[in-house]
Amino acid sequence: MAALGHPAVFGRATHAVVRALPESLCQHALRRDKGDEVDFARAERQHQLYVDVLGSKLGLQVVTLPADESLPDCVFVEDVAVVCEETALITRPGAPSRRKEVDMMKEALEKLQLNIVEMKDENATLDGGDVLFTGREFFVGLSKRTNQRGAEILADTFKDYAVSTVPVADTLHLKSSCSMAGPNLIAIGSSESAQKALKPLGRTSARPDTMLGLGPSLEITIMQQMSDHRYDKLTVPDDMAANCIYLNIPSKGHVLLHRTPEEYPESAKVYEKLKDYMLIPVSQSELEKVDGLLTCCSVLINKKADS
Ligand code: GLY
Repeated sequence: MAALGHPAVFGRATHAVVRALPESLCQHALRRDKGDEVDFARAERQHQLYVDVLGSKLGLQVVTLPADESLPDCVFVEDVAVVCEETALITRPGAPSRRKEVDMMKEALEKLQLNIVEMKDENATLDGGDVLFTGREFFVGLSKRTNQRGAEILADTFKDYAVSTVPVADTLHLKSSCSMAGPNLIAIGSSESAQKALKPLGRTSARPDTMLGLGPSLEITIMQQMSDHRYDKLTVPDDMAANCIYLNIPSKGHVLLHRTPEEYPESAKVYEKLKDYMLIPVSQSELEKVDGLLTCCSVLINKKADS
């Protein structure tokens, strides 16, 4: 069942909020696996290229927040805000060390005159990396970072859309192995766990008419149900490479930022087969060492011209 309020064009964005990297990221950013050390200078260069793609190449207005050395993960802005149309949900990140990251994001989104909703409930946690918005509905990964209460508050914030929860067991976030690659197209990694995550997306859905104006208990029921909408699937061999950024930019059309052939040659070949896309390979190898993928480093916003 379709949601009630589709954005006119999926993937449209006018602004991006990003944040500079603190040097403390190298030693203190959260990471699932102890692995290679982050080369800070290289990470900064890669991040600058990413920001240049959004700003100079695609014409988005980029708001760059300053780094904060006391917040080693602060470059991963996606986790601290979920923006849909004119509403921004300021999250309560699952990792306590990341909670203060929200302050500067809230300030920036207030300046952009979005309607701000803050997740204040101390029982709730939610990282934006667990939130997949398809243009017609939300899927929220229940992970080590995001819990049911967080998903309920998201459902309550974006009442026009169905919200379903998806269990996330083997990755940091839901979007660690899938993301939107087009208006009806989900890119997904080929590992068993990534493919499993997508399966629930095919089940019977919430009806939007049962969503509106009803109390939280019904919303919970709805979130446990699943979409009956069928998405096209773009399977890439590497889970990490399934995290890409789709944009629809006036005068450019379909745009996809995806991982480079140098990083993930086989996955890049899959993206290169997409027709009618402006494909932009972007390196993220340094931040990936601390579990940061492409979507993690920006909050994309579509401001109406008159606001
Ligand atoms: N290093 C990203 C995160 O764990 O939140």
